[in-house]
Amino acid sequence: MNSDFKIQHRETALITGAASGIGYELMQIFAQNQYNLVLVDRNQQKLSEIADELPNKFGISVKTIVKDLSVSLAAKEIFTEVNHSSIKIDVLVNNAGFGNYGLFNETDLNAELEMMQVNMVSLTHLTKLFLKQMVKQGKGKILNVASTAAFQPGPLMAVYFATKAYIFSFSQRSLMN
Ligand SMILES: NC(=O)c1ccc[n+]([C@@H]2O[C@H](COP(=O)([O-])OP(=O)(O)OC[C@H]3O[C@@H](n4cnc5c(N)ncnc54)[C@H](OP(=O)(O)O)[C@@H]3O)[C@@H](O)[C@H]2O)c1
Repeated sequence: MNSDFKIQHRETALITGAASGIGYELMQIFAQNQYNLVLVDRNQQKLSEIADELPNKFGISVKTIVKDLSVSLAAKEIFTEVNHSSIKIDVLVNNAGFGNYGLFNETDLNAELEMMQVNMVSLTHLTKLFLKQMVKQGKGKILNVASTAAFQPGPLMAVYFATKAYIFSFSQRSLMN
């Protein structure tokens, strides 16, 4: 891990769910645009591979935080770890999220409670903590990844669609007023 965050006068983006999928692609774009990166995911092995590769490839600093966002204290612990490392976050990307599929009376409640924690609660918690800091800094950007699922209820994915509607509604009022 390259941890020269302070001596490089670059902006830093924190991306959740950065080890694969959309988060991974966003991470590549931020790296190409010379952002230092704080990458959060529960997949330790994939994060380590990324942290080994990116600094040399793009000349940026990368910090990885292995964290399960379905755990209620995860957002607070991420915020604390970032501050202990004296890293200033300029862009927060709340990307981590997942869904499940099936009749609501048959699907796994624990999976849905975890989904609500990751998609809504940790996203809201991280937004609250970093937004306050960004307001103090006088600048900052937050991208909350929702979905077209935000715009209507979804058959066999009732909870997932509802979480995405929450993200869309919450982001409109918390980030745009
Ligand atoms: N793919 C689509 O078509 C689509 C469309 C609209 C919106 N979205 C939204 O875009 C976002 C990313 O989706 P994606 O398709 O790129 O998902 P993905 O390929 O499953 O990647 C999500 C990443 O987040 C991580 N993650 C999941 N749960 C986590 C947790 N509890 N704590 C920490 N990390 C966790 C995953 O780790 P693991 O590999 O360990 O699970 C994975 O690395 C989600 O919010 C999704 O709802 C996706």
